[in-house]
Amino acid sequence: MSEPIVFYYRGEQQRITQASPNRTLLQYLREDLHCTGSKEGCAEGDCGACTVVVGELENGQLQMKSVNACIQLLPSMHGKALFTVEDLGPACKNTGCATDCDLHPVQAAMVNCHASQCGFCTPGFVMSLWDLYLRHEQLGAPPSRQEIATALSGNLCRCTGYRPIIDAAQEMFKLPRVAFERALVEQQLRQLQPDGSHAAPHYDYAAQSFFWPQNLSQALQLRAQHPQATLLAGGTDIGLWITKQMRQLNSLIYLGQVEELLQMREHNGMLEIGAAVNLNQAYSKICQYYGQALYEMWQRFASMPVRNAGTLGGNVANGSPIGDSMPWLIALGAQVKLQSVRGTRQMPLEDFYLAYQKKDMQLDEIVSHVLLPLPKPHWLFRTYKLAKRFDQDISAVCAAFALEIVDGIIINARIAFGGMAATPKRASHTEQILLGAHWDELNLDIAKASLMQDYQPLSDMRASSKYRMKTAQNLLHRFWLETRADQPLSATDVNAFAYADADADTFFAKAEGV
Ligand code: FAD
Ligand code: FES
Ligand code: FES
Repeated sequence: MSEPIVFYYRGEQQRITQASPNRTLLQYLREDLHCTGSKEGCAEGDCGACTVVVGELENGQLQMKSVNACIQLLPSMHGKALFTVEDLGPACKNTGCATDCDLHPVQAAMVNCHASQCGFCTPGFVMSLWDLYLRHEQLGAPPSRQEIATALSGNLCRCTGYRPIIDAAQEMFKLPRVAFERALVEQQLRQLQPDGSHAAPHYDYAAQSFFWPQNLSQALQLRAQHPQATLLAGGTDIGLWITKQMRQLNSLIYLGQVEELLQMREHNGMLEIGAAVNLNQAYSKICQYYGQALYEMWQRFASMPVRNAGTLGGNVANGSPIGDSMPWLIALGAQVKLQSVRGTRQMPLEDFYLAYQKKDMQLDEIVSHVLLPLPKPHWLFRTYKLAKRFDQDISAVCAAFALEIVDGIIINARIAFGGMAATPKRASHTEQILLGAHWDELNLDIAKASLMQDYQPLSDMRASSKYRMKTAQNLLHRFWLETRADQPLSATDVNAFAYADADADTFFAKAEGV
């Protein structure tokens, strides 16, 4: 029997029976509830004008995270709590906001710091800042400037400029605190949790269906029964199929509540990451093992709200040639686990990608886990992303290098690139050249030249073929500069040179002279 979509909003249960499962959360808010505080700027997760905060129970504890309402499908809210700008303080009734109104400290700080002009982006900024406020209220310490920048990485403002907004983020912690009723929300959410022992709940509307499997067995059964259905994880790719390509998805299986897919554990020397673990949680965990070498990639993957919603499993399953996780996963020797009612298969991630948008995945299978080897001694590893902006930008070229060096000799080489071929792809010719060689400048030059045999990149709106090849070679050179045995440069040193000198040849000449 079809169940309604139920979630908490403004202290009340929303029960929805008459909406297409393709309806976005933003459409529901603005057009059905007439809560027009959240704005639509781009409808593709880029501008942050629609940012809302979603609360859900994870291991019985309330977790709050900012997401883009424009690309979240309404049924994915089932069992959760929603917070929008309408939740924060009473509406301002006069012009003396800083003194007369009972605004939330986030809003009051925005007013006091003159952090809004046309105001279109403001509700989105306020919600990103509220999410930050809640996290640091719990931690008991205000955020650093870098943490503020990270929290705002998904919000664009085209008139105020960011300095007053960052000032407001610092000011909000100096104003009298407003407590958040965490226990009350947890209690409300407990009442909404479905019982996983029965058949998976589902929602039907007209000829469309949305399934909420609660465990892996239910998910695999549904996959077998509905091989044409779309698997939905964080929706940060799929949301755009609806809002930009105007597609209608008639049957959706939501993986975001499948218990086994939300777990991470260490097992047999591997870190096993459930496919529905969100990108922030997955990268945060993996950075505990691979540290600084991966940290920048984490921070540069999309934006805070996209990483809060999107999953590592979705990134891998989508398998875009310019996706950011695949090159470093492949270089580190990751495996992908596929499951169906017929059984389990596991393969090196590079073997999963057969051709452009073609994967070695049967219609009844799902990606259940990504398995990542734990760090081993003697391996050098780095990964780099080249895009026009630091935050919220898709890669032109994405590189990952892993070399095992014993007594100065390379005994294992794994190099992978995104943006250089129709799939994320290893540089197998270059790897062969490096095997048994010294990691020195002579062999570096040979390896750089051999990349031309591994890749014939395309020219497109992000970069020309020539640029891609040149920068791929330069990234390999950067890897050498950072890992050479005699005088390695820190990433900060290399960045300082790169920013000081846009001309790559002058840059390398200078860097080598250090
Ligand atoms: P979904 O959208 O839910 O699904 C994506 C695809 O994977 C669908 O085909 C779905 O059916 C399939 N799928 C999902 N889970 C499974 C599974 N377990 N088994 C089998 N199939 C599955 N990507 C980058 O790499 N780098 C970026 O910097 C980046 N920036 C972005 C910025 C914006 C504004 C947006 C909107 C997207 C960006 N992306 C970026 C793309 C996207 O965020 C990632 O690909 C993300 O990891 C997708 O995960 P998801 O959970 O949202 O996938
Ligand atoms: Fe731009 Fe949602 S409307 S991110
Ligand atoms: Fe106008 Fe930010 S105040 S876009």
